Amino acid sequence: SGVRNYKFSVVRENTTTLCASKPIIVVNGKFPGPTLYAREDDTVIVRVVNHVKDNVTIHWHGVRQLRTGWSDGPAYITQCPIQTGQSYIYNFTLTGQRGTLLWHAHINWQRATVHGAIIILPKHGVPFPFPKPDKEEIIILGEWWKSDVEVVINQAMTLGQPPNVSDAHTINGLPGPAPNCSSQGYTLQVETGKTYLLRIVNAAVNEELFFKIAGHQLTIVEVDASYTKPFKTDTVFIGPGQTTNALLTADQKISNYLMAISPFMDTIVATDNQTATGTLRYKGMLAVSPTSLTVMPPQNATPITAKFMDSLRSLNSKEYPANVPQTVDHSLMFAIGVGVNPCATCVNGSRVIADINNVSFVMPTTAILQAHYYNISGVYTDDFPANPPNPYNYTGTPPTNIQTNNGTKVYRLAYNSTVQLVLQGTSIIAPESHPTHLHGFNFYVVGKGLGNYDPKNDPKNFNLVDPVERNTISVPTGGWTAIRFRADNPGVWFMHCHLEVHTTWGLKMAFLVENGKGPNQSILPPPNDLPKC
Ligand code: C2O
Repeated sequence: SGVRNYKFSVVRENTTTLCASKPIIVVNGKFPGPTLYAREDDTVIVRVVNHVKDNVTIHWHGVRQLRTGWSDGPAYITQCPIQTGQSYIYNFTLTGQRGTLLWHAHINWQRATVHGAIIILPKHGVPFPFPKPDKEEIIILGEWWKSDVEVVINQAMTLGQPPNVSDAHTINGLPGPAPNCSSQGYTLQVETGKTYLLRIVNAAVNEELFFKIAGHQLTIVEVDASYTKPFKTDTVFIGPGQTTNALLTADQKISNYLMAISPFMDTIVATDNQTATGTLRYKGMLAVSPTSLTVMPPQNATPITAKFMDSLRSLNSKEYPANVPQTVDHSLMFAIGVGVNPCATCVNGSRVIADINNVSFVMPTTAILQAHYYNISGVYTDDFPANPPNPYNYTGTPPTNIQTNNGTKVYRLAYNSTVQLVLQGTSIIAPESHPTHLHGFNFYVVGKGLGNYDPKNDPKNFNLVDPVERNTISVPTGGWTAIRFRADNPGVWFMHCHLEVHTTWGLKMAFLVENGKGPNQSILPPPNDLPKC
């Protein structure tokens, strides 16, 4: 195992997209940002230097950060932000993971332009558990606003209203031809007969996406840096924060094929029909526009998302066994959703708010991990409710009590205890899918269903053998998802909806995992350069 050193300079740069220029925050002058390459077991050291007027933090999304929570990155959860002119060294080791992940800024909505791929190659001499691809390609999906993202976030925060939907989606930073602008699209050039490993990353801010390439099937082999049983599909469903590795064989007749992404949105709150396009070009073809069209799923194609998610299974081989907790110490149920709260300054006297178990999480002004480590009182309380306070029908008539309470609450877990967490999507305003991300862990997705979770009968159908292992999971509209994990990583771990607007509205909480009593069961001491608030 080796050491990988990187320097990330956070700078402001002018970019032209959709025939308009604006300054954006980027790392090392690149959008999408630089790729971080490493091997399993490597130590990664990234010196992040803040050259912009805004505060910055970087999160290594999906990296387990065993005992190194100080390097996880979410602002005010594990660290105070890196201020203008300051720097911070993230230092972590990649253990037990291989595949594709992403890094992104983790403060306000900065991740709209501050993101990039993390590639974890297997250890030297260890092959992939699938046929060796001839080449690899990173495909980063994003969203683009013509206006400053800070303006968009203000709508969500100050006015308590849904923010403007993005003006375009992007594939590797490029939207493809758009109305009134002949903008560039991304081109993937392939050679007939060769196989490509596509490392697909959804770095969009507020949208789950469909990805398709006309005339081609993809074989899914890994998600969120965990190998899966290979399966073929013509449509990839990928939530923000998720990553998917797929094999593409250039087995079609020589031509240009359209590649496209489009949003999955099952809510009527916002409509967005923007499709970003790119081209799969067989070598030797001229750069003419692609002739083979691809039909994207309709925006509310829930059955396609369900089919894709049902097809995902852990590889569960001798080399890569699934390790699903078979017993449960903490059985939790979190009702997650969007509601309304009174608000004197808002348009209609109320604002949209999001919550977990009626708690709308408030960001503290000191990092919770620091408060925990140094026993600073008054920053958080550890009374996060294990169950919804008001039992109600999650999919039928809205409950009478949709009021939320503000709080900075964590749920405490003993070291190495096992957790079953049922995430129940509520329909208080509109049913909406929530791609929920847990920091510090991979979890197993042991069950899912539509309607209300039935604690008596649903567990009988849980998959405790080869469920998919990941760090972000879509909680289906008007339905539920059950996950299991082992609390073997001491620290403070954020969990939130990866639709940034829902996080802003309060759909977030944190787990506090206590130190164990044995050797190597405690969080490591904080680094000397840990930023101060
Ligand atoms: Cu990818 Cu808490 O984030």
